[in-house]
Amino acid sequence: MCGIAGYIGKNQAAPIILDGLSRLEYRGYDSAGIAVFDGERIRMAKAAGRLSVLKELTDNGRALPGCCGIGHTRWATHGRPCDENAHPHMNRENTIAVVHNGIIENYRKLREKLERKGYVFSSETDTEVLAHMLTEYYRGDPVEAIEKVLHRVEGSYALGILFLDHPHHIYAARRDSPLVVGVSGEEKFIASDVPALLEHTRTVYYMENEEIATLSAGNIRFYSLDGELLSKKPVTVEWDISAAQKGGYAHFMLKEIHEQPSALRDTIFPRLKDRRIDLDDLGLSEEKIRRLRRISIVACGSAYHAAVVGKYVLEALARIPVETDLASEYRYRCPICEPDSLVIIVSQSGETADSLAALRDAKARGSRILAIVNVVGSSIAREADCVFYTGAGPEISVATTKAYSCQLAAFYMLAAEFARVRGAIGADRFCGLLAALKRLPAQVRELLGCQEKIQFLANRYLAADHIFFMGRGIDYAISLEGSLKLKEISYIHSEAYAAGELKHGTISLIEEQTPVVAVATSDRLYPKTLSNIVEVKTRGAMVLALTTPGHEDLARTADYVLFVPETEPLFMGSLSIIPLQLFAYYVSLGRGLDVDKPRNLAKSVTVE
Ligand code: G6P
Repeated sequence: MCGIAGYIGKNQAAPIILDGLSRLEYRGYDSAGIAVFDGERIRMAKAAGRLSVLKELTDNGRALPGCCGIGHTRWATHGRPCDENAHPHMNRENTIAVVHNGIIENYRKLREKLERKGYVFSSETDTEVLAHMLTEYYRGDPVEAIEKVLHRVEGSYALGILFLDHPHHIYAARRDSPLVVGVSGEEKFIASDVPALLEHTRTVYYMENEEIATLSAGNIRFYSLDGELLSKKPVTVEWDISAAQKGGYAHFMLKEIHEQPSALRDTIFPRLKDRRIDLDDLGLSEEKIRRLRRISIVACGSAYHAAVVGKYVLEALARIPVETDLASEYRYRCPICEPDSLVIIVSQSGETADSLAALRDAKARGSRILAIVNVVGSSIAREADCVFYTGAGPEISVATTKAYSCQLAAFYMLAAEFARVRGAIGADRFCGLLAALKRLPAQVRELLGCQEKIQFLANRYLAADHIFFMGRGIDYAISLEGSLKLKEISYIHSEAYAAGELKHGTISLIEEQTPVVAVATSDRLYPKTLSNIVEVKTRGAMVLALTTPGHEDLARTADYVLFVPETEPLFMGSLSIIPLQLFAYYVSLGRGLDVDKPRNLAKSVTVE
C-alpha cells in the first residue's frame, strides 16, 4: 500500500526512483508521481494509472534531470485515484514537496484551519495538509518545521520531503508506516521496503516510530521528534537481489510457489536440534510453556488462514485451548487476556495496520506477544515480546504463497515443541513429527511436478462465475486459503465452507455444473466429506477433489481427482495447498489477468 522511493547522490535521481517504485509495485497502487530538484526548482510529474504512464510522461525519468528526488506510488484512501490526488503534493510556491504513506486522521480539522489562513488546496488528499503545514511552520530549519508539524498530526505516516532551500537534502520521518534508509557510499536512499534498495545496497537503517532523518550525499542524521540527535546502527540485509527478481519465471507468484521447498527448509531446519525444536530465541522457558492456559492467534488475510490451521494443530498436539481472531475484529472486541495466556500475531509483512493495533491492544492488557513474522525489523517484529521469523525471503506477489507455507511450518514447530514440553505427547510421537517436518520440503517439491495437470484442470474453470470450496477440519482451513487465493487473482466469486455446514444454506446455490473444489485428505473425516461430495454431485455440481492415495474410489464420484502424497495428518495442509495455489495461478493466467498485481489489492495493508 503506497510506496515511497527517494534518492540523493551523483547519478540522475529520476530513473533510480522510478526503478525503486517499480520494485514496490507489488504493494498495490493506482497512481504514481515523482519530484526532482533540477538545480533551480523542484520539478514534479504525476499520473493516475500504472507506473508505465509516469515513465512515458517523463521519458523514463530523463525529462526530470537532477540528482535528488522523491517518488511515490499511491493506493487511494482519501480522494479517488487521479492525477491531482497523486503524490508528491507541493505548497503553492513550489518550494516544498511531500510524499506520504499512511493516513493523517485529523486532516479535516487541519485543512479547515489552513483554509481559514488562506491556504488553497488542489487535491482531496489528507497528505496535502502536510505541505501547507510545513510552509506555515518553516523558518529556515526543515527539521524544526517537520517536528512542529508532526507534533500536530494524528495518524500514521512515512514521509519523504524536499525543501527548495535545502536542495541537496531529503528529509524523512515515520510513525506506524514502514520506511528504510539505504546507504551506498555517497549515495543515499529512502524506501518503503527493502526490495526497492537491493539493486544498490544491502546496508540499511530501519527507521523507528517518531524519528526524523536527514539525508545528504555526505551523511545521514536521525532525530527524535523533539529534535534530539540519535545514534543508530546500520543493518546488513541478508536477502540478495535475485530474491526480488523473477529469475526466469513468468510471474513472481509462480516463482514464489516454486520457492516453497527452500523457504520451508530455511524455516524448519535451523530449529531442528538434538531431538528437540529449538525455540530458545523466543524466550519462552519450559516453565512458561508448561504454565500456558490459553493461546489467541490474531491475524489478517492468509495469515489468518494459517492461524486457523495453527489452532487445529496446537489443540491436537499440545492440548492447549486456542482461539483465532481476525485482527480487525479482535482490536475492537475487548478481548479477555488472562495470566498465563499467549497472544500470537501472524504477519508476513509485519506492518499490517490491524494486526499491529491488535498486538498493541493485547500488550496493553498484559498479554505476552509472540509474533510469527517474515520481514525482519518490521513494526510487529519490533513491538512483540518475541519473534519467530519465517524464512520465506522477500515475497513480491500480492497473493501470498511461500510466506503462508512457512507460517504453517512455524505453527507445526510451536505445537510439537509445546506438546513435548507439556508431556502431551510421548517421545515416539515427537520423533515422528520431527521426521515428518524434515520430509515436508521434498514432498512439496514432488507435488510441484503436477503443475501441467493443474493447468489443464484450471483451464476448465476459466468461465466460472462462482466456485465453492469445501472440507472438514484442516481440509476446511486449507479450503479457506485455496478459495481466497482463487478469488483474489481470478476475480471469480469463491467461498469456502466447512463441508458439514453446506446443508445449512450454501447447498441451495448448487445447480447443474456449479464448480466445487473438495479437499478430502483426512482419513478420519474422509467418509463424512465423501457424503458431502455426493450431496453436491447429486445436485449437478462439477467436482474437483483433492485426496490422498488409498481413496481411489473418489474417482467414481468426483469429476476430477488430484492425489497429494501422504504425510503426518496434522501437516497435510502444507501439501494440499500447493495444487490449490497452482490452480488459482493458472485460472488467473488463463483469464488474462495481472497475476502478481490484482486490482484493488495491496500486499502490505498499512491502513485500517
Ligand atoms: C494483504 C495481502 C494478503 C495478506 C494480508 C495480511 O491482504 O494481500 O496476502 O495475507 O494482507 O498481511 P500480512 O503481511 O499481515 O501477512
